[in-house]
Amino acid sequence: MYETGSRILSGFPKKVSVIDVGPRDGLQSEPGYVSISDKVALVNGLIDAGVRHLEVTSFVSPRAVPQMQDAAEVLDGIDRSKGAVLTALVPNEKGAERAVEAGVDAMVVFMSASESHNLKNVNRTRDQSLAGFEAICRIAEAAKIDVYGAIATSFGCPFEGDVPVADVVEIARAYRDMGITMLSLGDTTGMATPPLVAERVRALGEAVPEADIALHFHNTRGVGLVCVYAGLMEGVTRFEASVGGLGGCPFVPRATGNICTEDLVYMLDECGVETGIDLKKLIAVSQRAEGVIGRSLPGQVMKAGHRLDLHPMDAVRTANG
Ligand code: COA
Ligand code: ZN
Repeated sequence: MYETGSRILSGFPKKVSVIDVGPRDGLQSEPGYVSISDKVALVNGLIDAGVRHLEVTSFVSPRAVPQMQDAAEVLDGIDRSKGAVLTALVPNEKGAERAVEAGVDAMVVFMSASESHNLKNVNRTRDQSLAGFEAICRIAEAAKIDVYGAIATSFGCPFEGDVPVADVVEIARAYRDMGITMLSLGDTTGMATPPLVAERVRALGEAVPEADIALHFHNTRGVGLVCVYAGLMEGVTRFEASVGGLGGCPFVPRATGNICTEDLVYMLDECGVETGIDLKKLIAVSQRAEGVIGRSLPGQVMKAGHRLDLHPMDAVRTANG
């Protein structure tokens, strides 16, 4: 385990939850099928490294997202002994029934802040999505399972451009009115910037003070961790990321991976913000994931190592002219 950095920065939360969404958001767009045992090993490796919040799969249509067709089998193999909270995306009643049957700890309903992305992603309007969540909530309530609410395209839409903050607030209010206060603002295609993060977190804090906000960034334009930093400055304590930086939405052109969990944990460690995650173990999980996926993943700390992983001087030649 690495030592964490000193706390010379003020105003940051002391502790945050890192939610690994790699097994779902990361793997869903992988073209080659990843086996059930590889998926289970990935999740169990993350739990062993100290991750306690994971979005492990989605109970969506197998025709829409073939990679997630094995959702129940994956859940079945996961180590529940350490009390990790396992969530899964659920788009409709059928998904909710399957999720209850498979034993998720919480289901995540999701819709986009922009109409066109919602149509592409779930084949319905935003109003239709919201109307459908009532039935999902009833199923969850009967099974005594929590429901979380995700808002995709919260910082911009690849088809419409800027998304009005009022639209994000309206959906957050609708979730709150259904009793859903664990919210996640998704930046599906990496359109977030630090000022947009501050603006949206503040607006939600004022309009829906009951909401517990998580931030979900993709590193599509290289500013994912900077957006996390902006979130930390606003007091946000839950961040979603994916091991190795796996990921991308299958329903958006040129979508790329989530911010990388190891890179996020490295930054948080160095800022003195506790995560409970062992970075060394996490890097090993990420390196194994590269082997499974069969290509280099975008994560940087897993390639460069920790800043204090030193190299013997005689390992490199001296530059003499
Ligand atoms: N689980 C399994 N099968 C499902 C399902 C679910 N949750 N929801 C629908 N299906 C099946 C139906 O049984 C039906 O099958 P059939 O044709 O063999 O009878 C078929 O899918 C179509 O169902 P329908 O209700 O008409 O859905 P649709 O075609 O309008 O698709 C969604 C709507 C929401 C099911 C689909 O768009 C979806 O799963 N989207 C998820 C997208 C996603 O995960 N995006 C990434 C996350 S950001
Ligand atoms: Zn995402």
